[in-house]
Amino acid sequence: MLREGMVVRVPILPTPWFEDPEIGRVKVHGGLIVARKGGRAIAYLNLCRHVPLSLDLGDGELLSADKTRLLCHHHGARYRIEDGVCDYGPCEGERLIPAAVDERDGELWVEVP
Ligand code: FES
Repeated sequence: MLREGMVVRVPILPTPWFEDPEIGRVKVHGGLIVARKGGRAIAYLNLCRHVPLSLDLGDGELLSADKTRLLCHHHGARYRIEDGVCDYGPCEGERLIPAAVDERDGELWVEVP
């Protein structure tokens, strides 16, 4: 169970991260979404801004069909990976809640917001 202020170590593994040189890598880790895009690690709470539900359906599937956005599988909100802004769907203009990421010594540490 994630709690506010908790720092979580996220294993950096080649799988099951989605990996594409153009798009980046995305995975669900507990209640967090962790992505890597353009060499930068990014994290958000796995919580849609439309209704407080996880974006995936418990299966870790996060990407839109064209693999350019994080997709909420409940009502179709699409969020840009790089800044978490919803650019299509019922919560357009809202933003996923970001989590601070620190990468050191080959490990990723995410602070739960
Ligand atoms: S709960 Fe995510 S779009 Fe409705």
